[in-house]
Amino acid sequence: MSAANLRIVLLGCPGAGKGTQASALCGRYGLAHVATGDLFRAEVAAKTALGLKVSDYMKRGVLVPDETVNEMVAGKLGSLSGGWLLDGFPRTLSQAQELDKAMKAGGGRIDLILNLRMPPEEVVRRMAGRRSCPACGEVYNIESRPPKIEGKCDKCAGPLLQREDDKDATVRKRLMVYEDLTRPLAAYYRSEGAFEEVDGSLPADEVTQGAARIIDRLLAGRSGFSAG
Ligand code: AP5
Repeated sequence: MSAANLRIVLLGCPGAGKGTQASALCGRYGLAHVATGDLFRAEVAAKTALGLKVSDYMKRGVLVPDETVNEMVAGKLGSLSGGWLLDGFPRTLSQAQELDKAMKAGGGRIDLILNLRMPPEEVVRRMAGRRSCPACGEVYNIESRPPKIEGKCDKCAGPLLQREDDKDATVRKRLMVYEDLTRPLAAYYRSEGAFEEVDGSLPADEVTQGAARIIDRLLAGRSGFSAG
């Protein structure tokens, strides 16, 4: 197996650093980054029918209905020919089962389920400091990853904004939803050999190194491959 064909699912609570790690790992291994939250935000910004349908769920910090998410992800994965990393999907048991079904139908499998462990009390603080660039999707943090010029994206110079669902009350709601519906997925996947965890509370570079060690080991075990 080569890195280019890897199929990875990244799990973790809101603010665990899924988007941050997904960007680093997709760059390093040449994978497509499929982030359901980003896909929905793009639909909301473009005011499409799907965007209008999901916007209220997102504002309230609750999950978009499974059928809507499953349909979007199936379409997205169907359009990809190489490896990918899923960020923010699956988030319910029903979504995980739908993904399993799709993988079996295509004769493939998920190579790695990587869970970012993170204490919830740290999350609220991280989210309060998050700033994102709506134009290019780059994510910053006023404490741990500030932009070079305050309020401006390093990559495209676009204005940085705070996400509407990063308000304190909405973050707490999202964490409750995570505890009820998404945390149980770790147990669902833990019984499978492909499940691994890293400590998401470490500095971002160290989290990336930990994840890369796991991926390199996986690749080396299967084909003698090791990435930079
Ligand atoms: P989504 O966008 O997926 O939000 P989320 O899972 O809540 O995750 P976040 O994007 O908030 O956090 P993250 O883990 O990516 O952290 P990040 O790297 O940005 O979903 C939004 C909404 O869409 C949902 O509420 C739901 O309504 C809907 N939705 C999406 N998918 C769905 C699905 N499958 N089913 C149903 N509904 C769905 O980092 C956060 C901050 O911390 C940043 O500022 C970053 O710079 C900083 N940071 C990151 N790592 C570190 C570190 N190691 N140390 C210090 N700071 C760090």
